[in-house]
Amino acid sequence: MSLRRVFESQPDRRYIMFGGKGGLGKTTLSATSAFWLARQGKRVLLFSVDPQASLSDIFQRDIFGQGPVPIVENLWAQEVDADRRIKDYQEEIRKKILDMYGFEKVPEEIDNYIAAASAEPAMEESAIFDAVVDIIVRGDYDYYIYDLVPLGHALYYLSMAKVYDEWINKITKLREDMRQYDQVAATMRREDTVQEDQILSELTYIKERINASSRILTDKTRTAFFFVVVPEEMIILDTKKAAALFAKFDVPLSGYIVNRILPADLGPGTIPPYLQNRIAMQKKYLDDIKGAFGNEVLAYVPEMERDVTGLAMIERLARRLFEEG
Ligand SMILES: Nc1ncnc2c1ncn2[C@@H]1O[C@H](COP(=O)(O)OP(=O)(O)O)[C@@H](O)[C@H]1O
Ligand SMILES: [Mg+2]
Repeated sequence: MSLRRVFESQPDRRYIMFGGKGGLGKTTLSATSAFWLARQGKRVLLFSVDPQASLSDIFQRDIFGQGPVPIVENLWAQEVDADRRIKDYQEEIRKKILDMYGFEKVPEEIDNYIAAASAEPAMEESAIFDAVVDIIVRGDYDYYIYDLVPLGHALYYLSMAKVYDEWINKITKLREDMRQYDQVAATMRREDTVQEDQILSELTYIKERINASSRILTDKTRTAFFFVVVPEEMIILDTKKAAALFAKFDVPLSGYIVNRILPADLGPGTIPPYLQNRIAMQKKYLDDIKGAFGNEVLAYVPEMERDVTGLAMIERLARRLFEEG
């Protein structure tokens, strides 16, 4: 099985993620796959929530916070501006409080509370989460390629979906119970039904969105999650650990991509001992990788002679990865 075969034989897997530690080639492989799929005539959205603006770097143009930006035919790239999302989010909360309670102006204590809450990292995560949900539930593209930030961000994201879900379930239950009391009180006062509970319907709405997105992300038939590794001891160890964690969250791991392989045709004897050593070391770790991940390895990606930035380099790597095998 190759990465190309995965894409070709499983066209329903439209949500694609590349995971792994920082600097291993997640953005490179996301962009290269996005580029190749777009060339095959698929409409592709490559998106990221990384404040480092790594898509702007790889495409060598500023796309940060501008919505989906067309890159080449059928390919759009989007970098979510998390700070902007937080500000919008706060504004929305303020408006809702005003509406709900009929205030002229948000009381100072509540405003302070909103400001304090948004300084928490959780607020940023939640704004990011919301942005991702927004993007993937819309469904305008054939492929969604999520360029993940380093470490177990995807893991965090998925565990967060579970935590959110439980939390919202609890609150929803509480509010439903309260509503019953309200209903009794209203009947005793000979009033008609109590007015619709806005908070409850808001919670239900959020819950449905979260469920929809985490259902997509843990669905083997719709999601493909690839792990990027390089032939180095520590990376192999970390990857094994991460794979075990992902399994715990029911994330369907779809295979491994081994990146940055030194070309074998450098020719022994003609190269300095330093490089010979590097190649020998890689050979050993490639054997380890074969032993550990075996036929789950979908691609071996060569180390190019320079960084993969700009469309010409992406195109070259796409050819090496998808056409030349
Ligand atoms: N196969 C490769 N050949 C040459 N350079 C590569 C290759 N893969 C990645 N790089 C370079 O390594 C750096 C880190 O890659 P990147 O895709 O940004 O990693 P990540 O997104 O996992 O942090 C970038 O400068 C990228 O151009
Ligand atoms: Mg990256």
